[in-house]
Amino acid sequence: MIDLHTHILPGVDDGVKSYQEALMVIKEAERQGIKKMVATPHDDYQSNMKKIKEKVAKLQAMINKEGLDVQVLIGAETYLTPELRERAAKGLVNTINDSRYLLLELPFGHLPNYIDDVFYDLQVLGYIPIICHPERYRWVREEPNYLYNWVKQGICFQLNAGSLLGQFGSKVQETAEILVKHNLVQLIGSDVHSIDNRGICLEQGVKRLKGLVGNDVKFYLQNAGLVINDEEVECVAPKYYKKTVKVFDNFFVNKLKTALGWR
Ligand SMILES: [Fe+2]
Repeated sequence: MIDLHTHILPGVDDGVKSYQEALMVIKEAERQGIKKMVATPHDDYQSNMKKIKEKVAKLQAMINKEGLDVQVLIGAETYLTPELRERAAKGLVNTINDSRYLLLELPFGHLPNYIDDVFYDLQVLGYIPIICHPERYRWVREEPNYLYNWVKQGICFQLNAGSLLGQFGSKVQETAEILVKHNLVQLIGSDVHSIDNRGICLEQGVKRLKGLVGNDVKFYLQNAGLVINDEEVECVAPKYYKKTVKVFDNFFVNKLKTALGWR
């Protein structure tokens, strides 16, 4: 397996605190069957690619010394702002394994009004946005169909394994399942931040994903390989999500009907 989203470089973000902790995470990753991990520190302009490359090289040397069969690749998780277009035009963005794929984090609480313009400009510049953990954004939880047109436009979405396991609460878990069932996500990653709190759980997440999509889980696993090789991700046609009326709502609707003498 390939993990596209990890915080395993110490001293660059809120991820692991030391190389020793990084090695502990990588040992666990190897046990789960992960062969490649993309290091995706939060890109706050400080975490430039030179620093990321140096830390990846140091970590890889330690992994090799330990005799672990895991390869760490360069990447970053970049927060989407309107200014990102200027950085991207100058080539100052850090992509996954030097591919066209740009891992992007969006605001958690609101849908930015500039989002479509930024997506469009990034795509014109030749980048392919991968939006990480959409299920964790409040506005996606309220309206999963925001993703529908974006998927059709070639924007990719990466689910957090932990979301499927309830790591971020039941509402996030429920949204993750909706996105999966409607082909609104194409990739899965761990977004591991440490050895214990928000630890690596890709193996379990993939198992849960298989429970939802059966053998189609292979597309998620293949897509991670396509991303790091800079090839086109396979997108199954998205389905529009139709909200179902809950039993609780029906109860009040029936009460109202009774009061009005309709039943
Ligand atoms: Fe992350």
